[in-house]
Amino acid sequence: MKHTLNLDKTVSPGRPGDPPLQVGDPTHRRRTLLSWMVGIAAGAFAVSFAVPAAALKALMLEKPVIAVGDVLTYADTATGGQPGQPLKATDLAVGASTQLFPMGKADNQDNLLQVVRIAAGTGATGLVAYSAICTHLGCAVFEKLNRDGLILCPCHGSIYDPANHAAVRRGPSDRALPGIAIADGPNGTVIANGPFDGPIVP
Ligand code: FES
Repeated sequence: MKHTLNLDKTVSPGRPGDPPLQVGDPTHRRRTLLSWMVGIAAGAFAVSFAVPAAALKALMLEKPVIAVGDVLTYADTATGGQPGQPLKATDLAVGASTQLFPMGKADNQDNLLQVVRIAAGTGATGLVAYSAICTHLGCAVFEKLNRDGLILCPCHGSIYDPANHAAVRRGPSDRALPGIAIADGPNGTVIANGPFDGPIVP
């Protein structure tokens, strides 16, 4: 059987009665260009929605939030522990302070806690915990208390009272550090026992 090549380069016509368009015809080229532009615009429209959605998802995945039951671990070596090592309630003497992250969640700075022993006690009794993020503009407060036993922010000098719900003793901050309940964990450790009682961001 003999096959013949179809050499007819006619393309779809425009309005009824118009002569058929030929490949290479200027009108055909314009329509082809228009088709490309419509395709590109549609793609850009779809991407404009897809990219923010992907970014939002990534953002949520990157921010593990402190939760009830999280074991609290040293943030650094400043008060004698090793980063990631669980705090033992007996590690803190009365008047001592340290900064902790919930285990495995140190990549979210908003999880940073200031834990202070304000009274003698067994286990978590006598310990209080607050956000270590200053409510003025978001700096991390000093890990150690000042000589008056108060929490000091290095950025603009705000002072908070750990024995009084981290109330502001000196501004410019006008809001207490958010508090968080803590409890005894396994083997003398300390765990988070609730969410923060206020927003972290100023
Ligand atoms: Fe703490 Fe300004 S950020 S006093």
